[in-house]
Amino acid sequence: MDYQFPEGFLWGGASSGPQSEGGSTEGDRVMSEWDYWFSKEPERFYRQVGPSVTSDFYHKYPEYIEKMKAAGVKSYRTSIQWSRVIRDCDGTVNEDGIQFYNQVIDELIRNGIEPMMCLHHFDLPLYWVEKGGFENRETAYAFARFAAVCFGRFGDRVKYWTTFNEPVIIPETGYLYQRHYPAVCDAGKAAAVGYHVQLASSLAVAEFRKSGCDGKIGIIINLTPTYCENPEKAEDRRAAEILDLIFNRSFLDPSVKGEYPVELKELLEAEGILPEVSEGDREMIRENTVDYLGVNYYHPRRAKARTTVYEGPLMPEKYYEPYEFEGQKMNTSRGWEIYEPAIYDIAMNLKENYGNIPWYISENGMGIQDEEQFMGADGMVEDDYRIEFIKEHLTYLHKAIEEGCNCFGYHLWSPFDCWSWTNAYKNRYGLLRVDIYDGCKITMKKSAHWFRKLSENNGF
Ligand code: NOJ
Repeated sequence: MDYQFPEGFLWGGASSGPQSEGGSTEGDRVMSEWDYWFSKEPERFYRQVGPSVTSDFYHKYPEYIEKMKAAGVKSYRTSIQWSRVIRDCDGTVNEDGIQFYNQVIDELIRNGIEPMMCLHHFDLPLYWVEKGGFENRETAYAFARFAAVCFGRFGDRVKYWTTFNEPVIIPETGYLYQRHYPAVCDAGKAAAVGYHVQLASSLAVAEFRKSGCDGKIGIIINLTPTYCENPEKAEDRRAAEILDLIFNRSFLDPSVKGEYPVELKELLEAEGILPEVSEGDREMIRENTVDYLGVNYYHPRRAKARTTVYEGPLMPEKYYEPYEFEGQKMNTSRGWEIYEPAIYDIAMNLKENYGNIPWYISENGMGIQDEEQFMGADGMVEDDYRIEFIKEHLTYLHKAIEEGCNCFGYHLWSPFDCWSWTNAYKNRYGLLRVDIYDGCKITMKKSAHWFRKLSENNGF
């Protein structure tokens, strides 16, 4: 064994409620922003496959859990859909939704899989969308009330909680790049939404502590380590610093250190988009930092100073241009760079600058388009590229652990193929293949067999 991991290391996988469950009207679930958007603009979704299809986890969860177990998954992170558990703005609890998640949690535990629950995975219920979503501060308080219901109902069995998944995506894709609802481009709104999401997370952490639950509360942040083209050039360094502030430190610092970076405040102030802070907010954020972090890592960012004047609306692009270089490795299905050493850089940054907080890789994975082309005669997807991808990332993670970083697990996105927002089923990420046009038939890919050995041996 070349790479042995610490005892008790969590080998597992992640998905989310809206991307796996389907059953969108069952158990009296109400619409989320995704159901609504799909009903209005289905053409935005790849092959017009919407959130009601997904992988049918709602009905098939016992089979999924059994097959995840066979693939060596020892811990599974999914999310509780607010729209399944709370009926309206008054916070009326939907007992059918509670029952569904109780069954899922119990089934996971029965199969020896640690349940890890996230409370928000880009899926606001429509009744809060209609009130302005996270542009409205009230939504943050409502989120904390929903969180309190979850801690009260499931906290006796769930030991690992997270408030938000990839919080920066909410302002970034909803209010700058228009890939999530409401698909507008407005930097001022983006800044306010980002602030209210952080506030919501801190309020939920406070609720967790009040609940007295015996577990840990964290947040899942997608980190995109930023490298500049020429570190000798001050303008290039500044371009990278700005990206780091906007996309990484905007949630990392308040969540872990309890305060925003001064440089970020200065930047937003200079742009005239500093969000309004109410009395008590600072203390709320300062006093309610997380116990641990989930880190989603897919790709780095490459930045150099802009060489031309930016004409568009206020965007991070005003400050930087991406650059490419010879030998840059790409995942062409996604258009993302693959850069494994960034995992080591993330680990060292958390060790040196964030008090070596406990963390785990909550997502890492490889999305592949038209994956059926790799299917062998026996119908099994021969995804050697996925095995290599995981191994290469783990090599750097192992090195960081040897050097004292506080990483306690690795979760692949995803244990099974699932629905990916407007990309729907375009890219497949799973260890398990899901045939959505054939009753969601579930089969093991080659990587599932490999992952099982990885998990059994606690290394490779
Ligand atoms: C991160 C997100 O958390 C998840 O929802 C998404 O599907 C994966 N990345 C893959 O793009």
